[in-house]
Amino acid sequence: MKQQENMSSLIMIFGATGDLAIRKLFPSLYRLFERGRLNKFAVIGVARRQITNDAFQKSVRESVINALGDKENIDEFISYFYYQSHDVTNSSSYVALRNLADQIDANYSLEGNRIFYLAMAPEFFGPIALHLKSDGLTEVKGFKRLVIEKPFGKSLESAKELNQQIRTAFSEEEIYRIDHYLGKEMVRNIEVIRFANAIFEPLWNNRYISNIQITSSEVLGVEERGRYYETSGALRDMVQNHIMQMVALLAMEPPIRLTTDEVRSEKVRVFRSLRRFESSEIKDYFVRGQYGPGTVNDEQVPEYRAEPMVDKESNTETFVAGKIMIDNFRWAGVPFYIRTGKRMKSKSTKIVVQFKDIPMNLYYQPEKNVHPNLLVIHIQPEEGITLHLNAKKAGGHLDAQEVKLSFANTGIQAMNTPEGYEKLLYDCLRGDATNFTHWDEVAYSWAFVDKISEVWEKTKTVDFPNYESGTIGPKAADELLEKDGFFWWPVSYLEVDMCK
Ligand code: BG6
Repeated sequence: MKQQENMSSLIMIFGATGDLAIRKLFPSLYRLFERGRLNKFAVIGVARRQITNDAFQKSVRESVINALGDKENIDEFISYFYYQSHDVTNSSSYVALRNLADQIDANYSLEGNRIFYLAMAPEFFGPIALHLKSDGLTEVKGFKRLVIEKPFGKSLESAKELNQQIRTAFSEEEIYRIDHYLGKEMVRNIEVIRFANAIFEPLWNNRYISNIQITSSEVLGVEERGRYYETSGALRDMVQNHIMQMVALLAMEPPIRLTTDEVRSEKVRVFRSLRRFESSEIKDYFVRGQYGPGTVNDEQVPEYRAEPMVDKESNTETFVAGKIMIDNFRWAGVPFYIRTGKRMKSKSTKIVVQFKDIPMNLYYQPEKNVHPNLLVIHIQPEEGITLHLNAKKAGGHLDAQEVKLSFANTGIQAMNTPEGYEKLLYDCLRGDATNFTHWDEVAYSWAFVDKISEVWEKTKTVDFPNYESGTIGPKAADELLEKDGFFWWPVSYLEVDMCK
């Protein structure tokens, strides 16, 4: 799709009094405004609560100041914000919203361009989309785009149903399904590292890579989200979307061009090549965990089953580790190990590409290991790349030692590194859907994950809780790699002092 430079738009945020809007969307919109990237715009905040425009503008002001500090032009910024109290199931509410939208559109000359951002519970996505169409809000002269947050369904079947509902009002090109990992600077960097470097692309295959490891660990527990998390678990919450997206970016073929369609179609080809496991094989490829009590940052924390809104005998996994196989020419035989969990030792997302050993190592001595070459992509909290090489130890004999070459995406740049949401909103305004997930990607990754959850839901007799809070997860996750002769590279070993 052609991207627009003319970005005038009326942005309607459903769920405008909620957490996402307050913590992420308003500050991100402000930053776009501050950079002159929002030239002609207005925002209608939509939510159930009865509040005045003034009260709404005040909440936008507070959200920006809390996130970014005092801002001189904040009064001007909030003057673009309007509020409409709304009942998502009631047509007359939509008619009132349409009248307000038409009026604001005319006042600000927004050329009938509309973005509908659904920052609310997923059960409302379908009904809202249907009303937007039936009550005339999508009949516009300009573009119309629907932005939706995850979760996009909770299985392939429910995702299909949801998709059918929103497709009655919006075409696939008009739907922007957010995966906030695709807004992260270093996730976006994966393609550039791979396809802009002559030294990596020729090695990026099963002849030279022995395995790839993706770890996304969190320190926080489930917090107040017990009700949602009980129906989701780590598999649906993190693997189906964020982790699978990183796998696709790491494994895809170079796209012919960097257009939305080309990039997405290469990612879809990865999903199509995922090895499908028989139910009886799942246990050999995937392990699950649930946190018990433990100590995190010197504080005692409760087990998952004692968290609010969580079943005392919950079988929900808060940790997943798995071995994903991509059965295509490039990747046959190379395991992609993934793991993610809550209440782990550190908050960290890293990708480790482990290269195969050289055919004969002249320098190897058991007590002076020569290490495999690693390419580490630090997604967060630090952002950068480290290349682990072997070089001669200074002085003396021809002993090899490991050296780490690092690029840190920090320092002056970091201050300007836009938050994920800012980038995603900007992409949406420009009509660039590359970093949003296409329906085909969603469907394939649900099909993959459904198979695992089906088995897990049937077998409730696992030894939960099976890892202590504040640790790196259950033992079974280590055994998964040990069987193949590998081990997880410890996060502490991969950390480098990313000097600025
Ligand atoms: C969200 C999950 O999608 O991603 C949360 O619903 C998780 O459970 C979060 O905490 C992690 O995102 P980040 O950007 O903090 O790694």
